[in-house]
Amino acid sequence: MTGFCSLALLLPVLLGCAGGHPVPGRASFHKLLLISFDGFRWDYDQDVDTPHMDRLARQGVKAKYLTPPFVTMTSPSHFTTISGRWIEDHGVIHNMMFNTETQWKYSYKTTQNKTEWWDNGALPLWITAQRQGRKTASFHYPGGGAKYNGEPVQRSLVESYTHPDSNETEWRENIDIVMNWFTKEDFDFVTLYYGEPDSVGHRVGPETNDRRVIIQQIDRTIGYLVEAIERHGLTEHLNVIITSDHGMTTVKKQPNVTEILLTNYIKFKDLVKFDIVDYGGFGMLLPKPGQEEAVYQALKDAHPHLKVYKKEDFPERFHFAKHERVLPIVMYADSGYNINGQLIIYFNKGDHGFDNALMDMKTIFRAFGPDFKKNYLAESFDSIHIYPLMCRLLGVTPEPHNGSLAVTQDMLLDRHDQQSDSVAHAKTLGMYWSPRCPALRPQAPPSGARAYVGPASR
Ligand SMILES: *[C@@H]1O[C@H](CO)[C@@H](O)[C@H](O)[C@H]1NC(C)=O
Ligand SMILES: *[C@@H]1O[C@H](CO)[C@@H](O)[C@H](O)[C@H]1NC(C)=O
Ligand SMILES: *[C@@H]1O[C@H](CO)[C@@H](O)[C@H](O)[C@H]1NC(C)=O
Ligand SMILES: *[C@@H]1O[C@H](CO)[C@@H](O)[C@H](O)[C@H]1NC(C)=O
Repeated sequence: MTGFCSLALLLPVLLGCAGGHPVPGRASFHKLLLISFDGFRWDYDQDVDTPHMDRLARQGVKAKYLTPPFVTMTSPSHFTTISGRWIEDHGVIHNMMFNTETQWKYSYKTTQNKTEWWDNGALPLWITAQRQGRKTASFHYPGGGAKYNGEPVQRSLVESYTHPDSNETEWRENIDIVMNWFTKEDFDFVTLYYGEPDSVGHRVGPETNDRRVIIQQIDRTIGYLVEAIERHGLTEHLNVIITSDHGMTTVKKQPNVTEILLTNYIKFKDLVKFDIVDYGGFGMLLPKPGQEEAVYQALKDAHPHLKVYKKEDFPERFHFAKHERVLPIVMYADSGYNINGQLIIYFNKGDHGFDNALMDMKTIFRAFGPDFKKNYLAESFDSIHIYPLMCRLLGVTPEPHNGSLAVTQDMLLDRHDQQSDSVAHAKTLGMYWSPRCPALRPQAPPSGARAYVGPASR
């Protein structure tokens, strides 16, 4: 019975809104900006003054720390944040796209434009939100340059090969550009990526003055962001999440330690068809036909700080190894050990890719804006849970995912806690109060709305 009443009640609302052009999904939600500062370890703000970040913690939400997925690497981790799927599920298993037949390896930046690396069936939030009427854009965010199911992100800037990582003037210009996207072009969801403090962390190591200097630059940039949000009149309309993809640890070098050099234990020429090594604390090998057991036996106890697995035995907790792209032999090293292949050709002073349980791999989560509580210190959580939170903020129905809204819900102001599923659902159809439909007041949803509006949703 309630169904019939609700339909009667809803129809005039529908027709009255948006001047006869009810736009699906233009509902009562706030805009969302997701910012990622690559390689921002969870405690980088603790040995340097960060007045703007400290102020934001008082004006919004701060999690003690955030656990990235394994492998703790830029493209895989960013794609978990934007899709809510484990890495073995979304298939972006490394920064480099590779082909074991041709032996090609594409660098991180080249890979950014390669749809075939990113589009494996798990839809990133840009696409899902677009399909539900939101306007979305990506500014240098990993994966934003690909097409999904044939569909590009509505606006996407891909980092150029020569893009400087640390130009503070350019950082501010990028914020201005994004603010104009929100205000002049009415974008609803934008992801903005910065390549620091990762670059500095690799080049000179995390426990250095240069790293502290770049954290202060990031802090000033966050101050500039808050000012820009005010200047553009977005304070009451824009939620912001500031996060990152992994931490950073100091690389251990000889003579202090015995470095891992795989060729000391296996003859590559005889046993290995293809390798992904020399890239921090994680590696994979494709043995030549029939040599898998030989490679495994030769490596498994070879070095006290190297853990080697057959793909099928790789620890379940990582949610990493099930994907078909993962090679048959998978290994990771203890904190700070690089996995070198045939030569030590590796210069980084800091790196990541290690076990995501290590504190040095943990990263940050901060959030503020009209839907977030103030001065709220959240427990640490896994980055996989950011996706359902973003869907809730945007009023978008999520794709199947591996996160849980229950983990982050307490960060939100009460109106979200009380919102039933049916309201959330009806909201995606643009039926309640909207800034674009000012005549309508916020109102309680008619019960049973879901049963009737359901079929109209895409
Ligand atoms: C990605 O594609 C865009 C558009 O074609 C191009 O401008 C850019 O240089 C490419 N970037 C990379 C890193 O390949
Ligand atoms: C930094 O960026 C600004 C604005 O894009 C540019 O004018 C300036 O030349 C850049 N500085 C350096 C050192 O590259
Ligand atoms: C070896 O360890 C010492 C003391 O921790 C450190 O100062 C030095 O930089 C290390 N050397 C290398 C090559 O890592
Ligand atoms: C992650 O979510 C996908 C889609 O719902 C599901 O198929 C998969 O089994 C989930 N993975 C885990 C480890 O729960």
